[in-house]
This record gives sequence, C-alpha cells and structure tokens, in this order.
Amino acid sequence: MHDINKLPLSKATSNPGTVYITWQKNLFNLPASFIYFLLSILLFFINLLCIPREKYAEIQNRSQEKETLRRLEDIGDFIKEGETVLDVGCGNGRFGENIARKFNACVTGIDVVDYADAGIPIKFYDGYTIPFDDNSFDVIIMAFMLHHVKHQDVIFKEALRCSKSKIIIYEDTYFSPWQHLFIMWNDFHSNMIVGLVKIVKGLEGKGILGMPLPFTFRSVKGWYRYFQENNLEIISTQVSHSNFKPMSKVTFLLQKGTRTE
Ligand SMILES: C[S@@+](CC[C@H](N)C(=O)[O-])C[C@H]1O[C@@H](n2cnc3c(N)ncnc32)[C@H](O)[C@@H]1O
Repeated sequence: MHDINKLPLSKATSNPGTVYITWQKNLFNLPASFIYFLLSILLFFINLLCIPREKYAEIQNRSQEKETLRRLEDIGDFIKEGETVLDVGCGNGRFGENIARKFNACVTGIDVVDYADAGIPIKFYDGYTIPFDDNSFDVIIMAFMLHHVKHQDVIFKEALRCSKSKIIIYEDTYFSPWQHLFIMWNDFHSNMIVGLVKIVKGLEGKGILGMPLPFTFRSVKGWYRYFQENNLEIISTQVSHSNFKPMSKVTFLLQKGTRTE
C-alpha cells in the first residue's frame, strides 16, 4: 500500500504546445483497439462468473489506488494546504477523500447520481446550477466528468463561476479517429459493464447505471481552443498513454485568465 502523503509535491510542469504522441504509438493503437474490444467482452464473463467477490474487489482497489497516485502526482503542489476544493462530478467521492487527506484540504463533492461511498460531504443537484456562491472555492476539480455532460458549456461556466482561480481537469482524450471510437467504447465498458459486475458482486450501488454517457470527449487541441474561449490560462498539461491499452489521459492545471472581454 502506497502512502499518498509521501508523494513528491513538484511534478507539475508547464508544457502547453508539446507534441503528445508518437506516430508509432498512434498506429499501434489501431490493432490494440480491436484486441482490447474483444478482450473486454471476454473479461466481462470471466469477472462475472469466475472471479470471487473478494479477489475482484482487490483487483479493482489496486487499480483505483494506482490511478489515484497518478492523478495526485499530476497535481504536484497546485493545491495548497487547507484550501477549499469542490469536486464536481465526484462519483463515489473516494478521489475527493484522497485529496482531503493529501493536502489537508476542505473538500466538498457534488454529483447528479448517488453512489457515494466516502468520507466527504456530497450534495446532489440538478446538473445545471451548482448550488454554491460565486468564487466560493479555491480549487475546482472535474475528474473524468466533463465527457459525461451533454451541456458541457453550462456546467463548465458554472464551475468557473464558483472558482476563485484554480481549476483541475482530468479527461480521457484521443489522437486519432480509432482512439476516439475506442475511448467511447471504454467509457461504456468501464461504467456500465464493469459497473454491472460491481453491482452483482455487491461492491457498488445501482446508482452508477444512471450515469449519463453523452461521450463529449475532446482532443487536447480541442481543449486548448475551449480554454482560450473561456479565458483560462494553462499552467500545465500532462498526457499519459497506457502501455498497451489504447488509452490516453490528460491532466490540465488551469487558472482564470485576466483578459477582459
Ligand atoms: C466517470 S465518473 C467520475 C467520478 C469521479 N470524478 C472519479 O474520478 O472517480 C463521472 C461522474 O460525473 C457525474 N456527472 C455527470 N453529469 C454531471 C453533472 N452535470 N454535474 C455533476 N456531475 C455529473 C456522473 O454522475 C459521474 O459520477
């Protein structure tokens, strides 16, 4: 078990404008998409029928722990001790709980679906109007939630309204049409199919199946254009590619810009 408090606090770098994927990796993602598609269907049956509940829970926890460490490393020391944080689309709330522990931060979560399972206060709301005042949080986090929102612009502007300045965005992203297709499949698979297995094994509440899936993904360049339109300054961009699975994840650290319209 890793100790999140021992993670370095200085990984965040400023690198907007870098080329993020090699052509070899981009090409490799094409056959990998087919292989992983077939593999995920096979794994559904294996996980459902052959893997005992405790073992499955252990595998899921291990992968969630690894993912949490990756996310925390990407943040570096962007969040300061004691700051107030709003985790928009907090899901089960476990990531928000880790943020609270790591930075001694005061974390609140909001979501539209209730499958909460962690020690942070979570509010459920209509998915349009964030139930907090302007500038009420030091940091806003949106972790893998923006691609679950059809009216992305509405919720994004709402999040900016509630942020004093800092915004952290984690997203799945794509560098080719085949990777775009794959991340849509992966989104359905990791939420609905894996969600179903977790429900059957009694590891997750049924609420997870109510999660909206409008697949509103963007490329890194697409996000850059969007941030510019919204007057956001990019502090850092970090892209990580899985070794074999054709998945690319991006973490943006942003702050409100000073441009006046
Ligand atoms: C893939 S989950 C990510 C959960 C969590 N942030 C994490 O990283 O583990 C996406 C979450 O976004 C939530 N969501 C979808 N639309 C939303 C909205 N308009 N406002 C807030 N949350 C929303 C979903 O209910 C879901 O819990």
